[in-house]
Amino acid sequence: MSGRKVLFLLPFLLAGCSGRHNWLSAAGEEAQRVEHLFWVLLIGAAVIWCIVIGAAVYAQKASVPDREQQARHFIVWGGAVFPTVVVGALLVWGLVILKDITPNEGDRTIRVDGERWWWRVVYDTDDGPVPTANEIRIPLGETALFKLTADDVIHSFWVPSLGGKMDMIPGRETQLALTPQKLGNWGGLCAEYCGGAHALMRFDTVVMEPDEFDAWLAAQAQPATVDPEDEGYQVFTEEGCGSCHTIRGTDSIGPVGPDLTHFASRERLGAGIYKMTPDNVSDWITDLDNMKPDIDMPSYPHINGARLEALVSFLMSLE
Ligand code: CUA
Repeated sequence: MSGRKVLFLLPFLLAGCSGRHNWLSAAGEEAQRVEHLFWVLLIGAAVIWCIVIGAAVYAQKASVPDREQQARHFIVWGGAVFPTVVVGALLVWGLVILKDITPNEGDRTIRVDGERWWWRVVYDTDDGPVPTANEIRIPLGETALFKLTADDVIHSFWVPSLGGKMDMIPGRETQLALTPQKLGNWGGLCAEYCGGAHALMRFDTVVMEPDEFDAWLAAQAQPATVDPEDEGYQVFTEEGCGSCHTIRGTDSIGPVGPDLTHFASRERLGAGIYKMTPDNVSDWITDLDNMKPDIDMPSYPHINGARLEALVSFLMSLE
């Protein structure tokens, strides 16, 4: 196939793509509206381009008896009236979409705080806030209203298949609504360059059946059940992990890093980048400089042997 044919087919080939990060295969109401706007703009622009090129060719070739009169018509209708009407209509339509996808109300509120380089997530519930990190779960068909801010620098919250994106600005609260229409695990990411590990600042957005979601949230609200004598928990406290991380229900209440109360219930590790497996958790502790360079947490290569095994199995028990 010639290069030109491939280029012509490119938008259609792209439209056939699917995946966790594809805004051209919308899995939510908001993403669908943005996708719709994109196709109308693309096809509209292609039609206008054809008209303009057609008019240019006509002007070159045709022998027009009253050129001046024709040119005046072209300038008035083609150069002023038509663009004003089209751009004006698109502006109004775009503003309506913008208003619809950034409402002030939702079926539930989820606060997300951008950190370098992970996501602090808090569910507002009738029984108080439920904190978690790096994984967002939302029920199918409900509108989740995200209240977004940032701790240090500007980040941007984006789940391409569901909608967005929205800047997260220190000292300010922005809002974004997502109404998922398909079950699945949709990838989210930071869409604003925010320093060293920006490209590794990701998260999972798991869309669940509403009753499964309720059960999950109720479980997340519970403190962890930890035996203070647990060998792995002993290593956790000896190494000072609890001064940065919180495990609700224990003496570890560090506010700096991600909440680990139900750490192993998450599908991924390190802000959406590695599968949650004992091997990866082990590497994360001992070889973090390679797993995710630039972050504040140091590597602990001196934790090894039975101590490492105990610590990993303790962390994997936090479900
Ligand atoms: Cu946070 Cu880029």
